[in-house]
Amino acid sequence: MKILFLGDVMGRAGRRAITENLPRLRQEWRLDFVVVNSENATSGMGLSGSHAKTLLDAGADCLTLGDHAFDQKDMLQFIQHEPRILRPLNFSKAAPGMGARLFTAQNGRKVLVAQVLGQVFMKRPFDDPFSALEPVLKTHPLGGQASAALVDIHCEATSEKMALGHFCDGRVSLAVGTHTHVPTADAMVLPGGTGYLTDAGMCGDYHSVIGMEKTEPLRRFITGMPKDRFTPATGTATLSGVYVETDDRTGKATRIAMVRDGGILQPAAP
Ligand SMILES: [Fe+2]
Ligand SMILES: [Fe+2]
Repeated sequence: MKILFLGDVMGRAGRRAITENLPRLRQEWRLDFVVVNSENATSGMGLSGSHAKTLLDAGADCLTLGDHAFDQKDMLQFIQHEPRILRPLNFSKAAPGMGARLFTAQNGRKVLVAQVLGQVFMKRPFDDPFSALEPVLKTHPLGGQASAALVDIHCEATSEKMALGHFCDGRVSLAVGTHTHVPTADAMVLPGGTGYLTDAGMCGDYHSVIGMEKTEPLRRFITGMPKDRFTPATGTATLSGVYVETDDRTGKATRIAMVRDGGILQPAAP
């Protein structure tokens, strides 16, 4: 299968980059399955139901969330009726929606997608992501019912993401980090056959502070005092993420490539 994963969609600029470019990339790269992390798609804070529809209509097969999962209150309801949206497995025992699910790709093949939150440097203490993931990976062995499997590793610390990547090695097709909004350059296939990238980066305007218009973040760093709200930067966004090809029989990654399309980052394509 040919799979594309895109990092955190940031505000209107990120949404526009998805609607304007994802349909073309889907065709050009003959993608079988597309996952888009959407935790910042609505004003940088969470995902509204209407913006979820926009991203799904543009060609995403699955939307993942993150620590901002329910910043938009309507998602608490919306996620219960839209199984294509996943929130982290270990978000909270009381959270609505699912943290992992078996999807059916357009070619009829089954794809497992799961998301976990890290514990290191996160603003809330979440449950252990390793033990949250273990039963899901055990129930869905790669090369069984699922032709491919993806895990979105939503963490701040690169060390925790790498550890989770090794934990997933040989058990999923792709383990990819999100949350920092800055892409890392370490796309690789791990020894067990899992494609891995520490962070997919964001789909947003990189002339910013991690997607936010830079004036207020700069003021807060310099003076230690807030004055305005954070608002997403509005310049042209770069679509940022990772492309992976998998063997349908084993589910393992045969090729991995960084993706950067549009905006001010240096382009990269499969
Ligand atoms: Fe994010
Ligand atoms: Fe996040």
